[in-house]
Amino acid sequence: MKTNIALIGFMGTGKTAVGQLLARKLNMDFIEVDVLIERKAGRTIPQIFEESGEIGFRELEISVTKDVAQEQSAVIACGGGLVLNRINVDRLKQGAVIVYLTASPGVTLKRVSKQMGQRPLLEVQDPLATIREMMKFRGPFYERAADITINTSRRNVEVVADAIIMSLNSDESLDWAK
Ligand code: S3P
Repeated sequence: MKTNIALIGFMGTGKTAVGQLLARKLNMDFIEVDVLIERKAGRTIPQIFEESGEIGFRELEISVTKDVAQEQSAVIACGGGLVLNRINVDRLKQGAVIVYLTASPGVTLKRVSKQMGQRPLLEVQDPLATIREMMKFRGPFYERAADITINTSRRNVEVVADAIIMSLNSDESLDWAK
């Protein structure tokens, strides 16, 4: 039986906001992989990228995900690129139903623009083109990992959280511990 919910998806799809609400609604703990990475490194994510590169960041991500996968009854918000390393998905899947949040490139850009300077991978000249390219490349990784997929483009956080709860309660094949 699975007792965790892991939220995956591109930057700006609402994994943190939805995760916090979902945890409150289901009386579960909320864990954010990126926050644990920052704590472990004693540096912010932009600093880690600057000083250790993306590879250094991914190594930390693998190590933190290994620990997080041991949790029980937690909603886990994953960083957007966590699925790129298969080992992370395999570890999370053992105890978590994986929920994939999607959004269109335009909506994504609008959302991430409100939090400038926090996402080194989008600090580029044409972020919309980069978002499109990255989504295309990453799509199959997200899809392969997902148990449930929800489009968040035109839905608010409350509606998305309720849709996840409904799927968890209605789909017997998810092995969800109600
Ligand atoms: C990343 C997404 C970020 C963070 C890091 C890399 C990615 O998390 O882990 O900047 O590769 O998509 P969010 O998806 O929470 O923004």
